[in-house]
Amino acid sequence: MIILNEIYKKYSTPSGEITALNNINLRVSPGEIFGIIGKSGAGKSTLIRCVNLLEKPTSGQVIVAGEELTSLSPSELRNARRKIGMIFQHFNLLTSRTVYDNIALPLELCGYSRQQIKENIMPLLDLTGLMDKINHFPAQLSGGQKQRVAIARALASQPKVLLSDEATSALDPETTHKILDLLKNIRDTLKLTILLITHEMSVIKACCDRVAILQHGELIEENEVGEFFAHPKTPIAKKFIASSLTHTLPDAIRSKVLAFEQPDTHPVWRLRFIEKTATQPIVSQLINQFNLRINILQANVDYIKNHPLGIMIIAVAGDTSKIQAGMLYLQNLGVQLEVIGYVPNNIISFA
Ligand SMILES: Nc1ncnc2c1ncn2[C@@H]1O[C@H](COP(=O)(O)OP(=O)(O)OP(=O)(O)O)[C@@H](O)[C@H]1O
Ligand SMILES: [Mg+2]
Repeated sequence: MIILNEIYKKYSTPSGEITALNNINLRVSPGEIFGIIGKSGAGKSTLIRCVNLLEKPTSGQVIVAGEELTSLSPSELRNARRKIGMIFQHFNLLTSRTVYDNIALPLELCGYSRQQIKENIMPLLDLTGLMDKINHFPAQLSGGQKQRVAIARALASQPKVLLSDEATSALDPETTHKILDLLKNIRDTLKLTILLITHEMSVIKACCDRVAILQHGELIEENEVGEFFAHPKTPIAKKFIASSLTHTLPDAIRSKVLAFEQPDTHPVWRLRFIEKTATQPIVSQLINQFNLRINILQANVDYIKNHPLGIMIIAVAGDTSKIQAGMLYLQNLGVQLEVIGYVPNNIISFA
């Protein structure tokens, strides 16, 4: 549905030329929600803006819904863009127009009659849950509601593809979740293809089928989302995943954790485990096989497309040699183990 072939984008700046996109090759299948994740400045917005040619690539081919956009005349391009909706971080609504009139705008520009506009818009208001906000102005809406209006507006011209540039970055976690659910629902009901960019792993985890990492203008890793979490290849992929799994201890314990081992302290381990290791009884093994005493301070197992992905923070007591052996055992199993500090034994009970 979306094909990018050898896309380069260079910007000339007073301090020299910047290569914002460096030989991007990408295929997004029909009906897929494809996420691109990258840090600030990686080139994400440039990349997504190249898909509808808001940004013209310096070279390369952009094909959307079978049409090569990079070879079209300006008027042909205007028509082709109707197949592509876009939503943004800051919603970009017209403040002087009501919800209804914001959504109607793209259809007005296409010369639709009032009746046609109404017929097109009513189902979208229903789909996006905005029926009771029809006559409100953007200033009277919450961030989540504004993004719903922007989504309805992007869908008004019945696009085949929806592009989302950090659409949930300005929203709180709960609203983000609802908007991501709405995007999934839209994909299912309208059979849309969605390309979204984000700097948040939680967005990828919540709604994408495939993911690619953009770093310094290059796509460096691409995979189905479950596989990506289970078997990250590049250091940056591992870092993104680790950041999404970082759980912190409650303040009452964290403030007592010491950086270095001292008399009468116990090591605190952060364990990250995926797939097979997530389903193994590692705690009971540590207890039975190595005679260790374990206090679980925090534990969580997430399921990403059926791949278990877990994190556990434990305090460990026992003979030093047995603790070393237990560590080795876990590492050999493929558990990522990190010693995050040492906790005094009067803080944590092993009784
Ligand atoms: N119009 C422009 N002129 C010159 N340089 C630009 C222009 N637009 C983007 N850049 C540069 O291209 C690179 C990629 O920018 P881009 O906005 O695509 O990054 P991003 O991944 O979207 O970042 P963020 O997460 O902060 O939005 C940056 O180094 C940026 O400074
Ligand atoms: Mg950006």
